[in-house]
Amino acid sequence: MKVRIMHFPDFEYNVYWILLLRLFLHPIMKFFASFPWLGKIFFEKSQYCKFIREKAMSYVALEKIYSYSWRQYNANILDRIITYTWLNIFNGFSTRNRLKIVKKLLRDALLLSQKDEINVLSLGAGSARSILEVVSQLRREGFSKKIKIKLIDSSRDALNFSRKLAEELKLETGDIEWHRGLIDTVDIFCKNGFKPDIIEMVGLLDYFNHQEALKLFQSIRENLAQKGILITGNVNKNPEEKFIREIIEWNMIYRRPNQLEDLLLTSGFNEVKMFSDKIMTHIVAEGKV
Ligand SMILES: C[S@@+](CC[C@H](N)C(=O)[O-])C[C@H]1O[C@@H](n2cnc3c(N)ncnc32)[C@H](O)[C@@H]1O
Repeated sequence: MKVRIMHFPDFEYNVYWILLLRLFLHPIMKFFASFPWLGKIFFEKSQYCKFIREKAMSYVALEKIYSYSWRQYNANILDRIITYTWLNIFNGFSTRNRLKIVKKLLRDALLLSQKDEINVLSLGAGSARSILEVVSQLRREGFSKKIKIKLIDSSRDALNFSRKLAEELKLETGDIEWHRGLIDTVDIFCKNGFKPDIIEMVGLLDYFNHQEALKLFQSIRENLAQKGILITGNVNKNPEEKFIREIIEWNMIYRRPNQLEDLLLTSGFNEVKMFSDKIMTHIVAEGKV
C-alpha cells in the first residue's frame, strides 16, 4: 500500500510555518478535547465553526468548508482567528485539497474513457461540485463526448442546491438526473441501460462501519461497467480526531490507508490506488473493476 502524494499548483499546502504552528497547536487541541465543555465555549466564539457544527455531515457544512475565505468572512478578531485556525491550519484545508484530488481523478477518468457515451453516478452527491465543475471545465475545453450523470442523495435540499450549481455552471441539465434516494439501493439507479463507467462516492464512507462499507462496495462493483472506476475516500487517523469528535461532535469512522485499501480489495476491486496531500488527513482511493 502506497499513498501517492499529489502536487497541484492550486493546492493549499501547509507551508513550513503552518506545519510548525500545527505542532504547537495540536497539544492545545488535545487539551480542549479532554475538557469538551471548555473547548466548546472557546470553539463557539466562531459563528462560522458553530454553523458548521450544527450542519455536520451535510452538504451545507462541506460547502462552507469549500468556500471559506479569511478576507470574505467578516467577524470580530477572535472569531476570525478561531475560524482561520480550524479551516486553514487544521482539517478544512485538507478537505479542500481532497476536492481537488477528486476532480483530477474524475477528469482523468473522463478523458481516458474509451466510450463515446460515459455514464457517471454519484452516491451521496451533495452539491456534486466535483463532477459538475469538471464536466463544465471539459465542455469549455471542447470535450464533446456525451456524459450522462445521475446524482443520488437522501437530502432534497442537497439536490436542489446541486441543480442550481449545474445551472450556474451552464451545464446541459438534460444530461443530468437528480434522484432522492438511499445509496444502499445502488441497483435501482443502475437500470434501463445506465451502467456506470465512473462511480463517485466521497464524503460518505466515513459514516459506514466495516460490514456496511463492504456490502456497499460489493454492490458498487457489481453495478460498474467493465473497466469501470470507483472514486471514493475516507478520513485517515489523525491527531485532530478527538477534537472533531468531542468539540465539533462530528462523528466519523477513521480508517488508515491500508484499511481503506483492504475494504476495496475484499470487495473485489483489482487495482487500487490511493492519493492524498502531504498531511494525509483525507485519503482518496480509486478502485478499478
Ligand atoms: C458530506 S456530503 C458529501 C457530498 C459530496 N459527495 C462531496 O464530497 O462534496 C454527504 C452527502 O451524503 C448524503 N447522504 C448521507 N447518507 C446518505 C444515504 N444513506 N444515502 C444517500 N445519501 C446520503 C447527505 O445528504 C450529504 O449530502
